[in-house]
Amino acid sequence: MSSEVPPTSPVRIVGNLRLKYSIIITIFGVSGNLAIKKLIPALFNLYVHNELPARFMIVGFARSKLTKADIRDRIGELLCSRTNPDFKCKTRERKFWDHFSYVRGDYTNPADFKKLGIILDSIEEEFSRIQSPHSESAHTVCIGDIGDQHGRGHGDKEEEDEEEMKSRRDEEDEDEGIISPCAAEELAGGRRAHHAGTGDHSQEEQKALSGTISTLSALDNDVCHRVFYLSLPPSLFLITSQHIHKHTRATHGNTRVVVEKPFGRDAKSFTALHNGLTRCFTRKELWAIDHFVGKEVVLSLLALRHANAVIEPLWNHHNISYVHFEFSEKIGAEKRAYFDKYGIVRDIMQNHLLQVMAFLASEQPLSQHSEDIRDEKVRLLRCVHEIEVTDLSLGQYYGYGRSKPKKVTAESGMKDEKDEKDEKDEKEEEEECEFPGSITPTFACALLKVVNTRFFDVPFIMTAGKGLSTKCTRIHVGFRKKPASLFPDALPNELLIEVQPEAKIELTLSFKKPGHGIKLQQGSLSLLYETGLNSDSRFLAAYERLLMDVISGNQTLFIRDDELREGWRIFDKCIKKTESNPDVPIEYYDFGSCGPQHILKRVQKIKEGL
Ligand code: NDP
Ligand code: BG6
Repeated sequence: MSSEVPPTSPVRIVGNLRLKYSIIITIFGVSGNLAIKKLIPALFNLYVHNELPARFMIVGFARSKLTKADIRDRIGELLCSRTNPDFKCKTRERKFWDHFSYVRGDYTNPADFKKLGIILDSIEEEFSRIQSPHSESAHTVCIGDIGDQHGRGHGDKEEEDEEEMKSRRDEEDEDEGIISPCAAEELAGGRRAHHAGTGDHSQEEQKALSGTISTLSALDNDVCHRVFYLSLPPSLFLITSQHIHKHTRATHGNTRVVVEKPFGRDAKSFTALHNGLTRCFTRKELWAIDHFVGKEVVLSLLALRHANAVIEPLWNHHNISYVHFEFSEKIGAEKRAYFDKYGIVRDIMQNHLLQVMAFLASEQPLSQHSEDIRDEKVRLLRCVHEIEVTDLSLGQYYGYGRSKPKKVTAESGMKDEKDEKDEKDEKEEEEECEFPGSITPTFACALLKVVNTRFFDVPFIMTAGKGLSTKCTRIHVGFRKKPASLFPDALPNELLIEVQPEAKIELTLSFKKPGHGIKLQQGSLSLLYETGLNSDSRFLAAYERLLMDVISGNQTLFIRDDELREGWRIFDKCIKKTESNPDVPIEYYDFGSCGPQHILKRVQKIKEGL
């Protein structure tokens, strides 16, 4: 195993001075798609906005023979792509990389984890040598006091760094006395782990937290939480977790292991994964992430539903005639072997869309507390019937498992030379498919039934597909026609909630067409999140929000095991039945089209109540 981390790793004091604990985030599989495209850019954005704790380090771990510079090159422009130009991104980028180290190792080799443990300990030691950024003399602790990996020493401190520190100190002075509940919770967690190993906070500890900041900072200086992000193929989740548990747990703070989807391939493998993980970690230590839950509009469903008096009386089967969750992507499976093993139902519906549905349809939680919100989501999921095999339709784009047939069989039924040539061409094209012969669905439509008083008989439709003409995630809530209307031809209203590409909410209504007489036309009341809400807060990417939650110890948006179990209950049987039956029809569609036409027509009919 090789490591780029020197025995005493250099650390810069840049970040949120109010978060006095330190944090080390280890990303397993840092060479992969998710880490490069989403995780590191998200951490960078948090860093640029001074939201990370002042003392933090990102340790990338993977098998590939890479250097930090290679990772940097792979990420390239992605780092600054979402950043406001005012943030001097390029300057900050250089400094950000001082907080990153690459460690080469094998996920199955205990020796590599032991060495990783030593590296993490040495980073922690380095952190503890730095005075609390909040203590009296904190203001004398500056970037450059420690030097950095490129050999810059104490005297090489850059002017911008000084400015940056100064402005943050000023901010900190202004904010004196304010500490976020999350930070406070963290401090308790850290102190608990420091003194008594892992477990939940006691009430006494929580009470003790209501003390002054100085009390908190005294407790917190030595606290270092360790986050382990499993950005890996699911087959490596368990073995990696076991090694983390044995060799790299936090010693002066909390251990948090973030597990990416898919959480198993079916109910049985989920249970095995869950049992394996819980043998190593407590519920508080396991963080099952579904990044759709971190999307701004998905979260705003809670506010839309439970903060608006006009919505509540409409939100039931008397008024709603259907709910349609639509997910579409232009990209295909991109030859990801993972996708071929799991298919679109497990990749998108069983987790992402089901979570969106839980936010949309659950009852008002008792409070905004994490457990209350998740309790209500589970309650809703428990009302959803297992999907019937007849309520699941599947599609696949041409070029995935098979190519598009070119010709109709020759009229004579006899093969001539031309036919034989065409057959040969088709065979060659077949071999050029992403997964020749595969019947894994790239498009699916599922009909879900919520059996509770509120939504009885309202069809909840999900459609999800890859290789389509648009990229979007939308929720369409269709309303019933007004009975005995003065305008019998008026079209029913629809509420469109667009998660992406735009974050917006639109209510379609009928209006009088300007001019003589009374004729109707449709128009919409629309709210575009990014411009429509007068806000000085920033629009967070899902992974930014969720990573910050992991860092600050807030589990509200992470998926509880009972939610995951319900998810599998709803989908497991129908997936299995379709997979075990080779005669289940698959409707093929052109890559880049709207999708399989028959299935889409069926969706339309369900919406029209036919
Ligand atoms: P990748 O396929 O890119 O794999 C990540 C890393 O794991 C690779 O760079 C490789 O690193 C290592 N790896 C891959 N295959 C093997 C293998 N067979 N044996 C040992 N190591 C292997 O995955 P992603 O980054 O796309 O996804 C990671 C996780 O995140 C998955 O669970 C995925 O479902 C989930 N996810 C991904 C999303 C995305 O946008 N990509 C979105 C949401 C969830 P090395 O060889 O260098 O060790
Ligand atoms: C991932 C799926 O969970 O979500 C991918 O595995 C999909 O197949 C991705 O492309 C979509 O996420 P987003 O945020 O880009 O819509």
